[in-house]
Amino acid sequence: MSEAKTPLWDGPTRLFHWSLAALILASWLTAGKSMEWHKLCGYAVLGLIVFRLWWGVAGGSTARFASFLKGPKTTLAYVSSLGSRAPGETAGHNPLGAWSVTLMLLLIALQAGLGLFATDIDGIESGPLSDKVDFDTGRLFSQWHELAFRVLQGLIGLHLAAIAFYAVWKRENLVGPMITGARRFGAAVTPLKKAPLWSLAVGIVLGAAFAYAVAKGFRIKL
Ligand code: HEM
Ligand code: HEM
Repeated sequence: MSEAKTPLWDGPTRLFHWSLAALILASWLTAGKSMEWHKLCGYAVLGLIVFRLWWGVAGGSTARFASFLKGPKTTLAYVSSLGSRAPGETAGHNPLGAWSVTLMLLLIALQAGLGLFATDIDGIESGPLSDKVDFDTGRLFSQWHELAFRVLQGLIGLHLAAIAFYAVWKRENLVGPMITGARRFGAAVTPLKKAPLWSLAVGIVLGAAFAYAVAKGFRIKL
């Protein structure tokens, strides 16, 4: 095993990940209790998702969707190799993890998106776009919002179980690299290629602008 650590996750991807996890936790804890905070967390989640979509096409090499989304053949071949205790040698998401995190990102976007139209029972603590739909439809969005969260909880559970599986079965620590950005590999791998600073700036502006606009229900007077 080579001694030097290979960089694999860039700073923005790591910051995105831990902010997202913290905000999902905060949305969960505030739901039905402190709705002002619940909604603020939700807008921040939507801003993060917009940033991540941008970063998925113009970010560091390992954050790009084109670099990690693989077809069914490659994914199934990877699944059939899961029983092997040999550690993975991909600097980035493996083909199965890639689909699971993409699904998680889409579900989180749907979750927060449904919240925008959700109407609570007395119509007071509602999403900023709930006036676009009638009361009964708003209540329906509310139910879907809760249902989506049950599915999301399942996916997050699976995410954590997968990480534990790698730690125990493959003796592979995936969490360390999501904190430090680098790890040692047994073989030569293609290291992370960082994105330019301007791309990060564009991503931050896009994410922040979207979060602001959505918080205002897209009713912005310039
Ligand atoms: C609400 C909780 C969480 C959510 C929604 C979440 C979501 C995600 C997402 C979307 C990614 C893909 C990152 C990207 O490419 O942008 C990811 C990766 C990752 N997450 Fe989480 N995460 C959560 C909690 C955690 C926790 C608590 C841990 C640590 C125990 C963790 C460890 C990791 C690791 C190690 C990866 C990289 C996996 C790999 O090597 O392919 N996550 N997570
Ligand atoms: C990913 C982020 C989000 C998560 C994880 C989440 C989760 C939840 C959960 C679990 C509930 C059910 C609370 C209960 O009745 O016990 C809830 C309720 C609610 N959420 Fe969210 N939410 C998120 C984002 C949003 C956003 C962006 C909005 C709107 C700005 C929103 C608006 C609402 C409203 C209005 C309710 C109350 C619905 C009712 O009383 O029937 N949520 N949320």
